[in-house]
Amino acid sequence: MQCKENKKEILTETQTTILEKKLIINKSEFGKMPDGTIVEQYKLTNKNSIEVDIITYGGRITSLKVPNKRGDIENVVLGFDNLNDYLNENPYFGALIGRYGNRIANGKFTLEGNEYTLAINNGSNHLHGGLVGFDSVVWDAEPIEGTDNTALKLTYLSKDREEGYPGNLKVTVIYTLSNDNTLEVSYKATTNKTTVVNLTQHAYFNLTGDFSKDILNHDLVLNADAFLPVDSGLIPTGEIRNVKGSPFDFTSVKKIGKEIEADNEQLKLGGGYDHCWVLNGKKGNMRFVASAYDETSGRFMEVFSEEPGMQLYTGNFLDGSLPIPNGGTYNKRTGFCLETQHYPDSPNQKEFPTTTLKPGEIYSTKTTYKFSTK
Ligand code: GLA
Repeated sequence: MQCKENKKEILTETQTTILEKKLIINKSEFGKMPDGTIVEQYKLTNKNSIEVDIITYGGRITSLKVPNKRGDIENVVLGFDNLNDYLNENPYFGALIGRYGNRIANGKFTLEGNEYTLAINNGSNHLHGGLVGFDSVVWDAEPIEGTDNTALKLTYLSKDREEGYPGNLKVTVIYTLSNDNTLEVSYKATTNKTTVVNLTQHAYFNLTGDFSKDILNHDLVLNADAFLPVDSGLIPTGEIRNVKGSPFDFTSVKKIGKEIEADNEQLKLGGGYDHCWVLNGKKGNMRFVASAYDETSGRFMEVFSEEPGMQLYTGNFLDGSLPIPNGGTYNKRTGFCLETQHYPDSPNQKEFPTTTLKPGEIYSTKTTYKFSTK
């Protein structure tokens, strides 16, 4: 009896190992682009059953499943279950953003004496890399299995003058899911002509796991004493304003919804939060930048980054026109984005940390999302 029991245990262990290995990285076809290019989906799984699905179209996270305090594993990022919905217009769900996260005023900047004109796709401005940004191209993918993590390496060559930007830009983004429940996004780029680069990730989080609910009850902390006020085109005015005593103060825990409707000129311009916070601490140093907590599910997410800024966008433009895979539609404020990045419009604002990349230099930055429950 004793012996039988032991045998059973050993067998179960072996099966689990095989199962874990199989689950670690799983590739499938997600769909085909209009020109026939196959879009693949990779599923990364860690030993705690956290699962992240990434497609090669836009390097998009289509689903990120994490447990709640009862152990139920649910998706916490807004997305679709088919390529067509991604090919139709959508607000950058789960996407990698490049060459430039957020806006460049009038789609123009001057570098080393040359004026460059970019694609205009947001009023009179350039937003998130233009008409066909990094969110809308098919990346090359290579899975990497580590001992305590599993990763997907994505690469893309953005050609000289793509969307108006100078230089052939070689970009590598690695998503790494670790057994300590962190998802790291690391970005690298090199160029053969002086250019500007500002990459980020545009996942919309809703830690409730129930997309019929909005995100206003999430408790948010931002490690930022200042933010960048914007003009009516959502271009930073250049002012760096202290958050103290304003609806922009998330230096200690506050519900996202607490002051979102306050009578505040900046909130009116953004239709809610759609601003870049100036993160405390030294850029280039990995440090705590934000946390979000949903009390009902107990899910807690901490964000660490090397970036100097972070755009908090509260899904103000979601309007119920896009389908949730298992029923219903994505309504206003069903997701929030924490887009770690350099400041918007930096190529035109000399006081902001530079986004210029020269030949021979390596653009390199990292952001990590850590999941737990409490
Ligand atoms: C960013 C911008 C917003 C909006 C969203 C996506 O956060 O700042 O204005 O474009 O992306 O819709």
